[in-house]
Order: sequence, then structure tokens, then C-alpha cells
Amino acid sequence: MGEAKTGRIFSGVQPTGNLHLGNYLGAIKNWIALQDEFECIYCVVDLHAITVPQEPVILRRAIREVAACLIASGINPEKSILFNQSRVPQHAELAWIFNCVARLGWLNRMTQFKEKAGKNRENATVGLYAYPTLMAADILAYRATHVPVGEDQKQHLELTRDIAAAFNSMFDSEFFPLPEPQIQKTAARVMSLRDGSSKMSKSDISDATRINLTDSADEIAQKIKRAKTDPEPLPSEAKGLEGRPEATNLVGIFSGLSGRPAEDILSEYGGQGFGVFKPVLAELCVSQIAPISLEMNKLLEQPDEIDRLLEKGAAQAQAIAAPILAEVKQLVGFSG
Ligand code: TYM
Repeated sequence: MGEAKTGRIFSGVQPTGNLHLGNYLGAIKNWIALQDEFECIYCVVDLHAITVPQEPVILRRAIREVAACLIASGINPEKSILFNQSRVPQHAELAWIFNCVARLGWLNRMTQFKEKAGKNRENATVGLYAYPTLMAADILAYRATHVPVGEDQKQHLELTRDIAAAFNSMFDSEFFPLPEPQIQKTAARVMSLRDGSSKMSKSDISDATRINLTDSADEIAQKIKRAKTDPEPLPSEAKGLEGRPEATNLVGIFSGLSGRPAEDILSEYGGQGFGVFKPVLAELCVSQIAPISLEMNKLLEQPDEIDRLLEKGAAQAQAIAAPILAEVKQLVGFSG
């Protein structure tokens, strides 16, 4: 990550349910590592959450819970800026300007909209369609240069770069950097524990498909024990994982948790069955994930303290975004 030394990190997560192992290995683990060296801004993206209907009481609680979960995972609000998006009006303001830069054709290509809108496209909100322009605004309101995300966000990052470049060219400036995605080499796409061809996701109706960061040690161990596999033993080389999505996923999770390359893991466990591999994986997962929910529950006993931290983070975020928006308005030709 040396190239980010002079840059600014921005990333976000939606408060739409429990964070899970995919969020953790695909993004949050990296967020934690980056905060020692770089200026990091991490956002609970509640404006994105309302692109699909939300129950206000549940949303309010989820914002706190996700903030607590991030802190419990290792995001330190003394080192990084942590806040929720709706407290910083510059996100929505810049998003509108970007709505007037991005082209329909660019948004029509977004696969996430197609997946989320499903067959009933006519009934999807305009917000769901314009979601990627808000995401571009999140990043560029801070002129962030590096964005640690899972692989599913890559297309949105490409659009962010297109919007930045189009804005720069429209207003004859080099105002916005073209932000780089930072995608992990292993576990960039953690798959469901019940189906190696679909992504681990908060919205899957079956809880057995994911490990939530709020799961107890027992729940984690049980879910790994019951994870779908095939009857073959593990191969001793990565090539042997081809066509075996469930085995690939479990080796990827092992790699993401341990920091060991897949080749290394396979050279140790090659030839062994899942009866040997799964208990080791379960122990590894429990040791890293179970302490998060204990810490999170402690933090949630003091909701006012979480609110205070989010408010402080929002003030810090606004201090960066407000002057940037003022310059954007100058460039666009608004008065004042
Ligand atoms: P969200 O809330 O869906 O997910 C948060 C982060 O977790 C990653 N992720 C995964 N990584 C690996 N395997 C998985 N199964 C998996 N599921 C989720 C996501 O890639 C993401 O990094 N649009 C974003 C939120 C956002 C954002 C931003 C991100 C809004 N504005 C600006 C970066 C910069 C989203 O819905 O993430």
C-alpha cells in the first residue's frame, strides 16, 4: 500500500443489517490496517441505506450498531474520522452536481442496480438508480485518492473515476483526483457458506449463509461446520481448486483470516478432508470474530457515547468537505 502514503483514504458501509465476514475480510480488515499510516475517513452511509425502504426506528439503531461494530473491530475514532453520512450535507450537495455530470448511459451499465432492482425496475427508487453518483460524491467530497473496498464495488469506483475525469474536463481543471480502488488479493469476494456461486450478503434470507460479526463463538463454529463442501479432499495446489467454488471459498476465508497465501495453506492441508480443515478454520474464525461482538455489546451499553463520537467525526469530516464544496461551486459558476 506504499503508493497511498501521500493520499487520503475514504470508504463506507451501509447500515442495513449486521456486518458479516465478507464486509470484514473484503474491506474492514484493510481499513483497520490503513489507519496507522494514512489519513482515513470511514462513513456509515445512511443516505445510501434509504435507496430501499427502511423502518426509521430500525435504521436509527442500525447506524449506532454499525458504528459500534466498526469500533469494536478496530477502527479507532481517535486516529480515523468515523461518522454517518447524513450529518454531512456536502455528500448530497455534491451528488446533485454529479447527477448533472454523469450520463444515463454510464448508470445504465451498473450491475448492482440491475441486481437490486430485479424484475420490478419500474418500481425501484430514483435514489437506487442514482446510488453510484452519491458514492462518487462521498469519495470526491474529500478528494480521496484511495478507496479500500471488496470486489463488488469495483464498477462503482470506475464510474467515480469517470465522473471525476468528466468534471475536470467540463471545468477545465485538475480539481478531482482519480481515486484508486484498493481490493484485497484474497477474500475480495467472500461467498455464501451454502452456495459458493453467490456472494455472502446481509440481504440473504438464510442466516446460515453468512457469519455475522455479532455471532457468538458457538454460532460461528456451527456455521463453519455446516458450510457446504464437496466430498473431495483439499488439493495441494491452487490449480486443484478450479471448479470447486465451496472449497475455494473456505480456503479464501482461511487465507483472509490468517494472512497466509492460499498456496501455503494448501501445501499444509492438501490431501486432508474437510473434517480436518473445518475445525481449524472454525477456531481461527472464532478467535478473530467472536471478540468483536463482546466489545460491540459493551459499547452499545453507552449509546450516547457512540452518538458523541459520530458527531465529533461529522464535524471533522465537514471541516474537510466544506472548503472543497466551496471550490466546486466556484468552478461550476454558482455565486457566493
Ligand atoms: P456494503 O455496505 O455493501 O459493503 C461494505 C464493504 O464490504 C464489502 N463487501 C464484501 N467484500 C467481500 N466479500 C463480500 N461478500 C462482501 N460484501 C460486502 C464491500 O465491497 C464494501 O467495501 N456502496 C457501498 C458503500 C459505499 C462506499 C462509498 C464504499 C457508499 N459510498 C464510498 C466506498 C466508498 C456498499 O454498499 O457497501
